[in-house]
Amino acid sequence: MYSPDEQRRLFSLSKELLFSPQADLFSEPSAERAEDLRQVLLYHEWRYYVQNDPVISDFEYDQLYKQLEAIERQFPDLISSDSPTQRVGKDLVENAAQVQHLTPMLSLDNSYDAEDLQDFDESVKKLCKLDADTDIEYCVEPKYDGGTIVLVYENDRLVRAATRGNGYVGDEITANMRTLRTVPLKAAFSQKGITKVELRGEALIRKDIFEKINAARQEAGETVFANPRNAATGGLRMKDPKEAAERSLEAFIYQLGYAVDANGADVLGKFNSHDESIHLLESLSFKTPLAKTGVQQHLPATKTCKNIREVIEFCQAWQDYRDEYPYELDGMVVKVNSLELQEKCGFTSHHPRWAIAFKFKARQATTRLRDVEFQVGKTGAVTPVAKLEPVPLAGVTVQNVSLHNEEFIRSKDIRIGDQVLVERAGDVIPYIVKSLTELRTGAEKPVEYPKNCPVCQSVLVKPDDEAVWRCENAGCEAQVMARMIFHTSKAAMDIEGMGESTIERFYKLGWLHTIADIYRLDYDQIAKLEGFGEKSAANLMAAVEKAKQNPIQRLLHSLSIHHLGQKAGKLLAAEVNHVLDLKDWDLERYQLIKDVGPVLARNVFNFFQNEQNLELLRTMESLGVNMHQTAEDKKAELNADGPLFGKTILFTGTLSQMTREEAEKTATAAGASIASGVSKHLSILVVGEKAGSKLKKAQALGTVEIWNEQEFIEKTT
Ligand code: IVH
Repeated sequence: MYSPDEQRRLFSLSKELLFSPQADLFSEPSAERAEDLRQVLLYHEWRYYVQNDPVISDFEYDQLYKQLEAIERQFPDLISSDSPTQRVGKDLVENAAQVQHLTPMLSLDNSYDAEDLQDFDESVKKLCKLDADTDIEYCVEPKYDGGTIVLVYENDRLVRAATRGNGYVGDEITANMRTLRTVPLKAAFSQKGITKVELRGEALIRKDIFEKINAARQEAGETVFANPRNAATGGLRMKDPKEAAERSLEAFIYQLGYAVDANGADVLGKFNSHDESIHLLESLSFKTPLAKTGVQQHLPATKTCKNIREVIEFCQAWQDYRDEYPYELDGMVVKVNSLELQEKCGFTSHHPRWAIAFKFKARQATTRLRDVEFQVGKTGAVTPVAKLEPVPLAGVTVQNVSLHNEEFIRSKDIRIGDQVLVERAGDVIPYIVKSLTELRTGAEKPVEYPKNCPVCQSVLVKPDDEAVWRCENAGCEAQVMARMIFHTSKAAMDIEGMGESTIERFYKLGWLHTIADIYRLDYDQIAKLEGFGEKSAANLMAAVEKAKQNPIQRLLHSLSIHHLGQKAGKLLAAEVNHVLDLKDWDLERYQLIKDVGPVLARNVFNFFQNEQNLELLRTMESLGVNMHQTAEDKKAELNADGPLFGKTILFTGTLSQMTREEAEKTATAAGASIASGVSKHLSILVVGEKAGSKLKKAQALGTVEIWNEQEFIEKTT
């Protein structure tokens, strides 16, 4: 265990070592630096492997590791047996039965860019004594980010499974691995003259299944897993195989490590290539990198590349694609295909010289929280924004990150001055995973939530059912501006050339007070502005004119009605002929639309009850903004030729001939819209078996047509 003081020291020492590159190795006191590096590496290994909770990125770890390797290469005398470079892997768990691997399972060397891969290719050629212009064939496959497993088959039966452990000795996990459907209990290796074989692979949890597992844990009040890797590595070691099975682990096998015949003689040499061995495994029904994942893939998971150029291209393509893959990957693995050449390359004590990992750009980094600012959004919500010391993360520099709301800050105990862990997941929005509380110095300050709007100073309020504080002054400058910026944005009215800076400029010039003003700009004046000119003014005019013709679903979305997103815009648009029809709707009418919940219903209802808003829309219409639902738009939404067009329908009870979902689909195809409850706006109630209160309510209303399932089928076919 490391004390908090010790952790702080090692963390800042790591950053120092990272940011003060090794000067001349001969002049620097290398022994001291090597010792520092050893200490910090051991610490980070403990955070990563034992605590499952790293505080620096893999990239930073690798940089430190490489520094130590460089010193040790230069001064072999400095190598100590406890150096992190002198062992293979690190995650031995106490109290589990341990087994020795038949061949050591080494690590992989890492590369991060095309240049690293070029260097690797060159070194392979040197080791194989080949000309620099020879093409080497490589297999490239995913670097799965799960828990490493080692399987042993003897006489065609699975006899043992283990974790990687320290590379030589791992934990026995046979009972758990037997529960995996992807691990064959029997495999006909004997057909190939193989009596005993050791396979390497990775146990993974598919990302969507992981989400479900976490959701269930959350509901049950259990702690959630940080990521699929943690859930997988934990799953490998479950005491009860049933629990292991509940994690839905899958095993991908990517390497044949050892194979002998009945006499104990090596048979690996019978294979020509890595490729060939993977195809054999696939034919014996193992899941390999060749496996189809059941998801439309734009790229194959694995490729045999003719040369390093193809390797680079393939790795880079995967970097952009990684998030679409159903499993977590942290890179690609490049392997020399020919086993003969592999043998020529050999191994270091740490990794094979014939393989290298191409690591994807880091998605986590640590940095310091300098300050928290409060921004007022289009609906008045006050959002705390973390101002970070700029840090590179997966290809961008991260500086501002939303902290969502007060509860988020409190629950994570985020303080100004903290070191924080930032992550960028697939959806590109970076977020703060946590504060590294053990690195605190005592100088950190709690975040003070403002009582007043930072822009207009009105007192902030927090509605009971919401997590955010709001500025309720609809005329607050920050809100007005944010609403205009949203109104013109791509997702809303999509007015090219009317971005944030232009809106701010026009606003300051006094040209914009409400969104209606966007449709009556004076383009002669605009042409005279510095940086504009005739052409830009004309382009802007064309963009505004085009936006006036937008379908009303866009307009509805653009009004910054809280909770009214693109989908709700569509749903509402499908129900009206003119936007202002909504002013005559009562609250109940909104709730009739399936997928429109009570909160959204209330917000839209309130908006259309407000005379100022109606005036705004009328002004916009007079300026040429389309308010009509065109027949085409409507037809695209609903089937206007269908027998149930214009009707609202609801299903209740158990249907016997189709599922509820099928029935709803049929109804929509017939032009009906699906209601969410019984009210006077409901046209038809279709009643299945065991119908209850809905039927009674509809009967009591007396205005609803009541059909049985058979009638529904007849009327829709
Ligand atoms: S080959 C002798 N191929 O990466 C080297 N390893 O640092 C054998 N890994 O924990 C490794 N996907 O479990 C290889 N397609 C792949 C891999 C892969 C993930 C993991 C492996 C080990 C680490 C090596």
